[in-house]
Amino acid sequence: MKDVVLFGLGKVAEVVHYDLTVEGGVRVAAFTCDPEFVDRDDFLGAPVVGFDVVEHTYPPDEFDLFVALGYHDLNALRAERLAQARAKGYRTPSFVHPRSGVPHDLELGENCFIMQDVLIQPRVKLGENVFVWSGALIGHHSTVGDNCWLTSHASIAGVVTVGRNCFFGLNATVGNGLSIGDECFLGANTLTTRDLEDRKVVVEKASEVLRLTPEQFLRISTLQ
Ligand SMILES: CC(C)(COP(=O)(O)OP(=O)(O)OC[C@H]1O[C@@H](n2cnc3c(N)ncnc32)[C@H](O)[C@@H]1OP(=O)(O)O)[C@@H](O)C(=O)NCCC(=O)NCCS
Repeated sequence: MKDVVLFGLGKVAEVVHYDLTVEGGVRVAAFTCDPEFVDRDDFLGAPVVGFDVVEHTYPPDEFDLFVALGYHDLNALRAERLAQARAKGYRTPSFVHPRSGVPHDLELGENCFIMQDVLIQPRVKLGENVFVWSGALIGHHSTVGDNCWLTSHASIAGVVTVGRNCFFGLNATVGNGLSIGDECFLGANTLTTRDLEDRKVVVEKASEVLRLTPEQFLRISTLQ
């Protein structure tokens, strides 16, 4: 990666900035965002410039660009800004954390973000703009489509095919050999054991909160 311009001013951009600079040794030259969201001159020690004019100060032949946005609109915003960055002529390389468990044969597209302690098995293909947060697992011979978002501890078993723009919440689990369509939302702690067509939503109920204090609960519990 050359010196890079990060698209985004939010928490995702802060995390990406940390990993790129501290873990990856990349210099973040500037931040950019849609002009109406430019609300400061600098962020994390780098200047902030509107996306409409970014190429004048940080030309694509000298700087790369990385889109570091969240999963708004089921990842559609990230996808759109990535396409626009490319149209401006930027290279949009991926970042793989040096301490992630990624095999040598991993195939991945551009603008992917693979965090620390991700586990990816051999024969895996990721599309472009796939974000995989620490602790997630992608099993062997699985394919994940463009713009997907895997939150920490999402687990995709082996030989799974995932379409575009899907969201996998914390601990979302997908069984082996399944096919997940485009734009599916798999909420936290879900277990998917059947193929999903496009645009399906899978959610799990939150755990019950008892109307007991810890002391009251421990009195009636066999714990301790
Ligand atoms: C699916 C999820 C969003 C539901 O959590 P929640 O706190 O109930 O969410 P919301 O209040 O936004 O729910 C929105 C609507 O979804 C529907 N819904 C939520 N859970 C439902 C369930 N078990 N069954 C049916 N509908 C449900 C309801 O219509 C709800 O609205 P309501 O207020 O009328 O109940 C949550 O379980 C989840 O997966 N969050 C993702 C966490 C995560 O991994 N974050 C990572 C960020 S990096």
